[in-house]
Amino acid sequence: MSHNQTIDSVVVTGAAGFIGYHVSLKLLDMGYEIYGFDSLNNYYDIKLKNDRLANLKKNKNFVFYHQDISDKHTIELLNEIQPKVIINLAAQAGVRHSLTNPDDYVKANIIGFLNILEYCKSAKSFSKLVYASTSSVYGGNTKMPFEEKDRVDQPLQFYAVTKRTNELMAEAYSKLYDIKSIGLRFFTVYGPWGRPDMALFKFTKNISDGKKIEVFNNGEHIRDFTFIDDIANGIILCSMKNSINKESRSEIYNIGGGNPIRLMDFIKEIEINLDKRAEIEFLPLQKGDVVKTKSDISKINSNYGYVPSVDYKDGVKLFIDWYKSYYQWSSCKICISSSVFKDISSPFFAILRPSTVSLFLINSLIT
Ligand SMILES: NC(=O)c1ccc[n+]([C@@H]2O[C@H](COP(=O)([O-])OP(=O)(O)OC[C@H]3O[C@@H](n4cnc5c(N)ncnc54)[C@H](O)[C@@H]3O)[C@@H](O)[C@H]2O)c1
Repeated sequence: MSHNQTIDSVVVTGAAGFIGYHVSLKLLDMGYEIYGFDSLNNYYDIKLKNDRLANLKKNKNFVFYHQDISDKHTIELLNEIQPKVIINLAAQAGVRHSLTNPDDYVKANIIGFLNILEYCKSAKSFSKLVYASTSSVYGGNTKMPFEEKDRVDQPLQFYAVTKRTNELMAEAYSKLYDIKSIGLRFFTVYGPWGRPDMALFKFTKNISDGKKIEVFNNGEHIRDFTFIDDIANGIILCSMKNSINKESRSEIYNIGGGNPIRLMDFIKEIEINLDKRAEIEFLPLQKGDVVKTKSDISKINSNYGYVPSVDYKDGVKLFIDWYKSYYQWSSCKICISSSVFKDISSPFFAILRPSTVSLFLINSLIT
């Protein structure tokens, strides 16, 4: 397939993922043409990825490529599309998975990213590469808040190694081939359509199912939780705007919530919104876990005007509202078998949603 380049064409890799979905959705709303790449790997529930994709595909300006970016064919596809901007979010994410499956990280995060850079190297009229890094690159640093100029040579797990490698790869390619690149160090992103392997999701699922939750480091973790809308807006600012101040060709920014929260306060909000007490098993610190994160966001604020705006109490509520509607209704067999019910924005949803009793009745009738 060949494509005419337009000024508005953007490639988002990892488009079926949590952050890629939200970024794509916002850019589509803004009128951009999005070429979404995703391998749809089975690291977590593929149905969730397909449901995100189904929402994106409702917009005629969204084109999907079921494509593994570690495959060399990615470069050919990019050559056909000739995007102005690439937002690289495809990656093997997750800190703990990297302890047992390091190969997945080499393939997606290093070989995949190399292919993106190889395209950028020879791309004509290319504007900008924005890619995902992580707060995990700060490793066991104890100086707070984390600043971009802090040392990042003491990783605690292999995931962080691959993300720091991405930053170094981008730096070298920017210098060698004059590529404009921006690496964004995300800090614990959460919100609707979130990742099932992450704490907020797991806690919510277990508490609502009446199961105990495992809280590591005896509940002493502190995280700079960042609501998904703030992250998506920040990514779009860096991708579509020019820096207010002078920038070098290759830059790195922290993008966090700027207000660290104790994990136990976060759990309290989940309990409030589920109206259910958590049964907690406190466990010691896990290998590879970072104890505290706190971002200094002054650089991205002064260069792009980034200001996070969602308080964690509102953010947790928005997540749980989404969780309740998404899982209540998709666990109903009628909903799964009927395409009408697959779309949570369908009128049927609006009719049924208010009544938990009717859901209960439907479920008990068909099981
Ligand atoms: N969510 C967070 O808190 C967080 C924090 C720091 C960094 N990040 C980074 O942000 C990015 C997006 O994370 P997310 O939370 O949306 O994760 P996600 O797992 O939901 O999304 C990543 C998507 O990339 C796809 N993918 C994986 N390997 C691929 C490959 N080789 N080719 C094409 N697609 C591939 C997956 O199928 C998935 O849909 C990742 O790079 C992640 O490392 C996320």
